[in-house]
Amino acid sequence: MPSSNALDPQSPFARSIYDLGIVSGIILTLIFVIVAGGIVYAILRFRARPGEPDPRQVLGNRKVEIVWTFIPFLIVIFLFAITLSAMNRGDPPPAPTPDLIVTGHQFWWQADYPASGATTANEIHIPAGKPLSVRLESQDVLHEFWVPKLTRKMTTVPGHTNYIWLQADKPGTYIGQCSEFCGIQHAWMRIVVIADEPARFEEWQKAQLKVAQNPSDGAAAKGLQIFRTATCINCHAIHGVPGANLRVAPDLTHVASRQQLASGMIDNTPENMLRWITNPQAVKPGALMPDFNLTKEQADELASYLSTLR
Ligand code: CUA
Repeated sequence: MPSSNALDPQSPFARSIYDLGIVSGIILTLIFVIVAGGIVYAILRFRARPGEPDPRQVLGNRKVEIVWTFIPFLIVIFLFAITLSAMNRGDPPPAPTPDLIVTGHQFWWQADYPASGATTANEIHIPAGKPLSVRLESQDVLHEFWVPKLTRKMTTVPGHTNYIWLQADKPGTYIGQCSEFCGIQHAWMRIVVIADEPARFEEWQKAQLKVAQNPSDGAAAKGLQIFRTATCINCHAIHGVPGANLRVAPDLTHVASRQQLASGMIDNTPENMLRWITNPQAVKPGALMPDFNLTKEQADELASYLSTLR
């Protein structure tokens, strides 16, 4: 399982935050060692001994006062300067048009690619090595987008847009997590960023733009009918199915091509898909997908249809 270790930055944005943490950490550790060391030394070296007279009484020392005001002042100025510089590198102004729009929902992430029109959920593909300007939105409550290896944290706010930059230096899978408490399934609002080689990313994007082929017979065709009549269609979009264009829940046009279901909670296997559509509340209590009380046969047919959505 790929990790989400913030101490292993994999983008210029995450690295600027990491470097700031390391440099500040070194400075603060040095200050601690000098101050604590001085105190320990004074306690041991100048402790009261039996029969010793009172120490010499001094009323301040202007030179020392000036020096120990001036040094901390310089340190604070330096920390301020490196913080500003890290902020500039870690969070540059957004591009005029976003490359990616990420929307937080209870309890999943929608990702739209405005230039191509592609859309996906939870598994966000990006081209490796390219900085993407990301616009963050929320459909319901406050969420927080955070992929520690790649970028800073940023809240998604209903009715307000925020921006971050997202980049992965190398191809790979990077894990993130909603980090603002947003309801009962907050802990299962995982973000998976998959950085592909640029050519592979283009292929993925092209595949995402294909419309679904509607099966005309067999279990899959019956499953499509269930999708249209058992009210799945009231929340989920599938491009190619007339009327299936609402975006309350994840777009399912290519659901079978995703690795996981329920926002990173379970692997996308035939058994898990069946479990999920049979009783979503048993898998992810509090998810907004209700239990439609499908019969075993109906669930099989629906799963069979969903497995065609590659
Ligand atoms: Cu969404 Cu926490």
